[in-house]
Amino acid sequence: MGTSRMFHIFVILGSIFMILLIIIYWDDVGASHLYLHTPVSPGPKIPHPPAPPKPQTSRTPSFLSDIDAFVNQFLEPGTGEPTDPVPHDTSNQSEKVEERYIPRQEWKVHLTPVAAELRERQEQRRKLLQEMCANDSIAFPGKNRSFDDIPNKELDHLIVDDRHGVIYCYVPKVACSNWKRIMIILSESMLRDGVPQRDPLAIPRDLVHNSSMHFTFNKFWKRYGKFAKHLMKVKLKKYTKFLFVRDPFVRLISAYRNKFEMRNEDFYRRFAQVMLRRYGNQPTPPSTVDEAFTVGIHPTFPHFIQYLLDPQTEKDMPYNEHWRQVYRLCHPCQIQYDFVGHLETAEEDAEHLLRQLRVDNVVEFPTSSRNLTASSWESDWFSTVPVEARRQLYKLYEPDFRLFGYERPESILNE
Ligand SMILES: *[C@@H]1O[C@H](CO)[C@@H](O)[C@H](O)[C@H]1NC(C)=O
Ligand SMILES: *[C@@H]1O[C@H](CO)[C@@H](O)[C@H](O)[C@H]1NC(C)=O
Ligand SMILES: *[C@@H]1O[C@H](CO)[C@@H](O)[C@H](O)[C@H]1NC(C)=O
Ligand SMILES: *[C@@H]1O[C@H](CO)[C@@H](O)[C@H](O)[C@H]1NC(C)=O
Ligand SMILES: *[C@@H]1O[C@H](CO)[C@@H](O)[C@H](O)[C@H]1NC(C)=O
Repeated sequence: MGTSRMFHIFVILGSIFMILLIIIYWDDVGASHLYLHTPVSPGPKIPHPPAPPKPQTSRTPSFLSDIDAFVNQFLEPGTGEPTDPVPHDTSNQSEKVEERYIPRQEWKVHLTPVAAELRERQEQRRKLLQEMCANDSIAFPGKNRSFDDIPNKELDHLIVDDRHGVIYCYVPKVACSNWKRIMIILSESMLRDGVPQRDPLAIPRDLVHNSSMHFTFNKFWKRYGKFAKHLMKVKLKKYTKFLFVRDPFVRLISAYRNKFEMRNEDFYRRFAQVMLRRYGNQPTPPSTVDEAFTVGIHPTFPHFIQYLLDPQTEKDMPYNEHWRQVYRLCHPCQIQYDFVGHLETAEEDAEHLLRQLRVDNVVEFPTSSRNLTASSWESDWFSTVPVEARRQLYKLYEPDFRLFGYERPESILNE
């Protein structure tokens, strides 16, 4: 009696153990698929030219990374998931989708390698970031903290695409609408006639900036609870991370032109009225942006700079993202970016990046025909700003200048 019961228990325990082994093994196999780009057409394997180091395939075969993959796979499938190939829709439409859905194609064949000059450029930008982060004589708030110490709400600029293993830190006023469009296309969450939208410019502007379109790191808490920070670190290790930056002062001019020289009700009420009251001698500024433009009242560029330098500004709330420093938006000393684009070389960098991400067959970077703020206007714009204010402003943005290799604008600061 006793021995047969023992035997039963033994058999059951043994079976459970076997099943666990199978699951773990299976997951390991499945997980490597998860990180690889699934080649679709059965055509011949095309050797990919100068394969840039792909973080998502370099799995260290440690027990911990298996656990990571294991956790990942269970947590991935969910509602509105970026990894979901067929977005939720009416059954009618999804039938159509299945029938007409053309999955990602083979990687584009490149007969020439990425120009050595471009690779060198990236190498230098990454090296500069590392040096600046390691150099104690360059200090800024939050530089020394660890990734775990970054508050959740400060991770809201990191957009994650699990399909292609990409993380993009968006910096407003640095071609961010177009890169956000590309992230939407890569996520394949937007359909046109049942197939994923491929034309970046066909995505309407208000949709591009609607945060519900993007899966950002700060949303991890809601979905993954206490696993969130752990998962973020796994993804940061495996995915390709990129950002685009530009000359910090030119970015400020661009922000001013875009938000205060054009009619923008929201920015008028939140910021322009404050500037007019504080520095513009307007105790009761017009109540709407239309009224203000009709009577020709708007904050000047020096008012805007004064607003940035006013200690009261950050006491009220952190800088708006359009003028917040890149080091505060993207945490370049906690996150090791694989690719640092500059707006000044946007087209070359975009082409290089899309190729490095192996999505240049899926999407093209839209060329901009807008009247971009040019660096050459800088001295004109700053001519009305007192020299002392310019120097203080430089102090505020110095980390961005140093981290990303923009020269100190001597001609503006030494007058
Ligand atoms: C399915 O879609 C077609 C057009 O695409 C429409 O004519 C038809 O009524 C739809 N059927 C259902 C059940 O919604
Ligand atoms: C750190 O930065 C300072 C100031 O810019 C510079 O003089 C120094 O050479 C740098 N140190 C290293 C190790 O790069
Ligand atoms: C960061 O740490 C270094 C030494 O490790 C220290 O010299 C520096 O003052 C610290 N910076 C800040 C902003 O805390
Ligand atoms: C963003 O999109 C969601 C759903 O697509 C919608 O409910 C919401 O109103 C949009 N928000 C804005 C600010 O347009
Ligand atoms: C671009 O804008 C600047 C200043 O706002 C203006 O001087 C210039 O003529 C514009 N260029 C074009 C091509 O519209």
